[in-house]
Amino acid sequence: MSNSISLLGLQWGDEGKGKVVDLLSKDIDAAVRYQGGHNAGHTLIIDGKEVVFHLLPSSICHKNIKCFLGRGVVISLEALFSEIDDAFEFIGDLKDRLVVSNAACLIQPYHKKIDQLRERSRSGTKIGTTGRGIGPAYEDRVGRRSIRVADLYDPNALKVKLEEALDIYNFLIKRHDEDQQEDLNELLDENLKQAERLKPFVGNVIAELKAFQESNKTILFEGAQGALLDYSLGTYPFVTSSNSSLGGIASGAGVSATSIDYSLGICKAYTTRVGEGPFPTELNDEIGSYLAEKGGEVGATTGRPRRCGWLDAVLLSHTVYLNGINGICLTKIDVLDGLEKIKICSDYSSSLSREDILESLALNDIEPQYIELEGWQEPTAGVQRFEDLNDKAIDFIAKVEELCGAPIVMISTGPRREDAIIRKYPL
Ligand code: GDP
Ligand code: IMO
Ligand code: MG
Repeated sequence: MSNSISLLGLQWGDEGKGKVVDLLSKDIDAAVRYQGGHNAGHTLIIDGKEVVFHLLPSSICHKNIKCFLGRGVVISLEALFSEIDDAFEFIGDLKDRLVVSNAACLIQPYHKKIDQLRERSRSGTKIGTTGRGIGPAYEDRVGRRSIRVADLYDPNALKVKLEEALDIYNFLIKRHDEDQQEDLNELLDENLKQAERLKPFVGNVIAELKAFQESNKTILFEGAQGALLDYSLGTYPFVTSSNSSLGGIASGAGVSATSIDYSLGICKAYTTRVGEGPFPTELNDEIGSYLAEKGGEVGATTGRPRRCGWLDAVLLSHTVYLNGINGICLTKIDVLDGLEKIKICSDYSSSLSREDILESLALNDIEPQYIELEGWQEPTAGVQRFEDLNDKAIDFIAKVEELCGAPIVMISTGPRREDAIIRKYPL
């Protein structure tokens, strides 16, 4: 029995976190987003309908679960309200179910503008961001000049902060596009209007989570992005701007780093990546296209096609280690159904040592070395019992376990909640 469980992507995001959160939601009392923003896109199938959450925790449709946006999340109020409005039909009124930290930093319109303008003007150094202002908002947070939720309720101080921000941002924006500069009064009015609507949701996340912990209630910390996109531990500079690894929970939610009882890693049976950056096992051939098409690999946030490739067990064993993974949910195994051969990268050949490669994660000048396994023709899609899997799929799962060093406790065999095999339930 675990009381605090973390759920993290172990690759470059889009591992199927939303689906797995939904699967676990029947047994949790509180759900927390603690980093990232609306760059995330977590997909759930609810009553046969596909729903994507960007900023709201994926457990929000379960009415008995209290949901939190911790201080580490960067919040675009425009995005938050539009998500609340879109979801109203099936999740209803959220007034008593959603708490937004007083200390969370806001994404302002100038963050989004500069994110997009910067990316547009780059040639060789493009990151391929989601263009939602995430990076600039985190820069302000570290630079100690963010506008936080609490600032919305002190109009005089807010005006001064916005004025200072525009001093910087209008200067930067002007370098790219004269017409996109922001007007102080319009921005202030918009912030004050949003402040009114946000008010019922604003609260003290630390105190509420403490109360949940003290009464032995189950809290799920829902990671966004994936471990390889962590700005400190990932494939820098091709990363996002938050700590998307386990370490982000303590500072982003406001709980002790020792309070996580179980660290659940989510990992696809192959690999995908959206945006720029190194990807050693990428397949630019018909197998890559097969995975993309069969797996529906299109970004849930930006609609961009996801790059696809084989599972990389060198990187996976590294993220398993860094995130203290107790168990893995291996997702999308059904996408491999029908392939003749399946490969897993088990090593790199390089003039650098493995330690050097993992320290920098620059992933330059390396050649992936593969283990080749027999594929299977008998479908795994929709299978719900381990003993109903074919032998080749079982061999594949055993090989992944052996190479990555963590038990595979769940296997997801399709996008619906019930398409899953549970070997050892983490809660
Ligand atoms: P997240 O960001 O980690 O929540 O993942 P996304 O929602 O961005 O992308 C995962 C996609 O795969 C979504 O379209 C899910 O509906 C789908 N999905 C999740 N698990 C499975 C699975 O086991 N099999 C298949 N075929 N699709 C899945
Ligand atoms: P979920 O939670 C996949 C990627 C972007 C880009 C890089 C930086 O759905 O797994 P940013 O806008 O964050 O500054 O972009 O990070 N990225 C994601 N890739 N899944 C995500 O979220 C992502 N969030 C950001 O594509 O390469
Ligand atoms: Mg996603």
